[in-house]
Amino acid sequence: MSLLTINKLTSSVGAEVTGVDPERLSADEGLGAAVLEALEDNGVLVFRGLGIDPRSQVAFCGRLGSVDHSSDGHHEVAGIYPVTLNHAKNSSASYLRATFDWHIDGCTPTGDEYPQKATVLSAVQVAERGGETEFASSYAAYDLLTGDEKERFRGLRVVHSLEASQRRVTPDPSPDELARWRARPTHEHPLVWTHRNGRRSLVLGASTDYVVGMGLDEGRALLDELLQRATSADRVYRHHWSVGDTVIWDNRGVLHRAAPYDPDSPREMLRTTVLGDEPIR
Ligand code: OGA
Ligand code: MN
Repeated sequence: MSLLTINKLTSSVGAEVTGVDPERLSADEGLGAAVLEALEDNGVLVFRGLGIDPRSQVAFCGRLGSVDHSSDGHHEVAGIYPVTLNHAKNSSASYLRATFDWHIDGCTPTGDEYPQKATVLSAVQVAERGGETEFASSYAAYDLLTGDEKERFRGLRVVHSLEASQRRVTPDPSPDELARWRARPTHEHPLVWTHRNGRRSLVLGASTDYVVGMGLDEGRALLDELLQRATSADRVYRHHWSVGDTVIWDNRGVLHRAAPYDPDSPREMLRTTVLGDEPIR
């Protein structure tokens, strides 16, 4: 019998987990493996009203893999990064407006780090309006291609950049801003990611800049069309947050975005990231 009680939230992505409490999640060794398995099957797991505290959240993430400490220093607990547009709570808040566009985390790392394996968000404060988080399966995005498309896209490569994702929300950057974006190296990834588990997914989202060897407009039109198909309303799980909710997603197999919310909103999510161990290839 599985250690977890799981109810699917849509046909392609997302499931709710019931019957666990924060103590068991951070202390029970077997639950880590069960959560990873459920995550692989469902892309997103929702724990409504879990009320996990920051330290237990980091301990739980340690059961799923290695916790990312590269953004430490924004919160008193190591391993916690506050996701908020409020500069008083996070000095790098302005970058986070790019979360309003569909994306996969970690496609434009500073070095050659692999995309994160899993990300946990817990709601400390929610927005009065907007601020839901939406998810769509990038495995399903591949699966719904026609046979002919699967054939055609097999060898395509796409350049991803921080500039591409930031430009969507800040179309007129100052020279300083632009220089900071461009200091981040660009990364070339295959459009189709063949995973260790044998499944395939599409690597899409805000960081995609252009398709290698294709006219700029043609390539961008293709990327836009594929993203639209992957994220059509019937393929999306939209999480309406309540304080105390925890959501975890498999960053390798889902696209995600935040529905826009007021920059003055008190919305604050505490995030912990589990480092990836699988390159995009
Ligand atoms: C993230 C992210 C979305 C949200 O933390 O990577 O995209 O709803 N967050 O805050
Ligand atoms: Mn993100």
